[in-house]
Amino acid sequence: MESLHETTLRGSAVYLRPLLPSDAQDLLALRVRNRTSFARFEPIPTESHFTLDGQLAEIDRALEDAQFDRRYAFGIFTIAEDRVAGRIALSNVARGAWQNATVGYYVDSACSNRGYATEALRLVLRFAFADAGLHRVQAGVLPENTASARVLEKAGFRREGISLRYLNIFGEWRDHLMYAITVEEWDEETPGYA
Ligand SMILES: CC(C)(COP(=O)(O)OP(=O)(O)OC[C@H]1O[C@@H](n2cnc3c(N)ncnc32)[C@H](O)[C@@H]1OP(=O)(O)O)[C@@H](O)C(=O)NCCC(=O)NCCS
Repeated sequence: MESLHETTLRGSAVYLRPLLPSDAQDLLALRVRNRTSFARFEPIPTESHFTLDGQLAEIDRALEDAQFDRRYAFGIFTIAEDRVAGRIALSNVARGAWQNATVGYYVDSACSNRGYATEALRLVLRFAFADAGLHRVQAGVLPENTASARVLEKAGFRREGISLRYLNIFGEWRDHLMYAITVEEWDEETPGYA
């Protein structure tokens, strides 16, 4: 695989590339304006997450994690305005007999329902299977997060079942719907790939 720093994954409406320190201010603004709406669906971020230093530290950590094959995080950028619209990451990369990662993502509510998350997910699947050599990608979704479940289904994920008390969301251990896709099910010809 080429160095992650040089990786750009191009779709038709968005492209993905690793987040850089120069993106921290824009990402911080996105996180701050979506703080309330995202809180229902994700683990509680630390207070420092909503500071510039916190964002810079997270960007550095993600770049280091990629070097060590632990996590691959990308910013989602609109092609039309070349502006950051969200983030998507393959985390908890496991090698050996598993070759698995978990995927997580968010898209600015100012540009929701334009297909950005779906296209970003398809692009990251191509990276996972064709570049990173993974065999399986999984995702956990809160039952009420119908938009995210729809995104997973549009990208070809299959619902596997329910994991009880899977993640701590907003201070509560919440059941999640589990979705997964393996390389055998992945179809590179799905519309949305560049
Ligand atoms: C979930 C999220 C990533 C979706 O991003 P997005 O760019 O709007 O997603 P897309 O436009 O690709 O697709 C959204 C789909 O959900 C559907 N949808 C949106 N709101 C919905 C709702 N309340 N009920 C049912 N479907 C809904 C849209 O109609 C669309 O499906 P369609 O193409 O069949 O019409 C975004 O809302 C988000 O960041 N939410 C907060 C963080 C989060 O939940 N992350 C995922 C954790 S698992």
